[in-house]
Amino acid sequence: MKIAYVTYDGPDDDRDVMLAHWRDAGVDGAAVRWDDPAAVWEAFDAAVVRSTWDYVERRGEFIAWARRASAATRLLNPPSVIERNTDKTYLRALAAAGVPTVPTTWVGPGEELRPPSFEEYVVKPAVSAGARDTIRTSLASEAAAHAGRIAAKGGTAMVQPYLRMVEEEGELSLLYFGGRFSHAVRRTAMLAAHGTARPRADHVGAELRTPAPDQVALAEKVLGQIAEPLLYARVDLVRLPDGTPALIELELTEPYLYLSDAPGAPGRLTDALRELLRA
Ligand SMILES: Nc1ncnc2c1ncn2[C@@H]1O[C@H](COP(=O)(O)OP(=O)(O)O)[C@@H](O)[C@H]1O
Ligand SMILES: [Mg+2]
Repeated sequence: MKIAYVTYDGPDDDRDVMLAHWRDAGVDGAAVRWDDPAAVWEAFDAAVVRSTWDYVERRGEFIAWARRASAATRLLNPPSVIERNTDKTYLRALAAAGVPTVPTTWVGPGEELRPPSFEEYVVKPAVSAGARDTIRTSLASEAAAHAGRIAAKGGTAMVQPYLRMVEEEGELSLLYFGGRFSHAVRRTAMLAAHGTARPRADHVGAELRTPAPDQVALAEKVLGQIAEPLLYARVDLVRLPDGTPALIELELTEPYLYLSDAPGAPGRLTDALRELLRA
């Protein structure tokens, strides 16, 4: 089996873990940059989209690449998933389908935010990763100004109440490989008060956790909404002030998978990959 681990030009601990595992497991794995003009995607049985973390400013180019690559090899996750999942407006569709999500006011190009009254706001672009261009503020005027900046660039801004539980219980990420639960981690809060994101904090300090039954039930409800077969999925959950779980993000494109934190996880991902390629 010849597999491309699709990546970018930068660090990725998952990549080291996965390639080492593949070497031991007899899988011919190679790290390939998604935008490498010399890449020969036809040479691979599958290309697994992983740390393509530099696509955010080049989403159109990235989606076009995914379509091209999937004509040449088995792209996982599939390009239809990647296209939908790289714009967080997918959360609106999931909410409309009855999935509890973080309450969000959407501000599109040409629109102006009439800020709801929150103690603290989070304002972020719908196309983002690693809390890029995301702010936390207690000032409605600052929230509106940031939303305006995002919309002025042609983007869609998301305005949410700041959920303090990310600092206490913490955001929980549930990892599924081939539709089966693999492991879950508690993630570190990323937004400093009155500031922007802590750079690269998104996968430091994670700890393995056993999800509660209501979290498993919600994660499975979310995944039940996706028609395409998925090699990997990360369901990021928070709790609303009333204690009920809600989806903050569904990562189907390039989630960090915490492979070194969970014994057996690289093997489970590889098993899921073999199964998908056999099917
Ligand atoms: N409403 C919110 N309340 C508290 N923290 C938030 C909120 N929205 C985002 N964050 C913080 O910012 C991080 C990044 O936001 P997220 O919506 O996951 O986008 P992305 O990971 O794509 O940048 C989250 O992991 C969390 O730490
Ligand atoms: Mg996130």
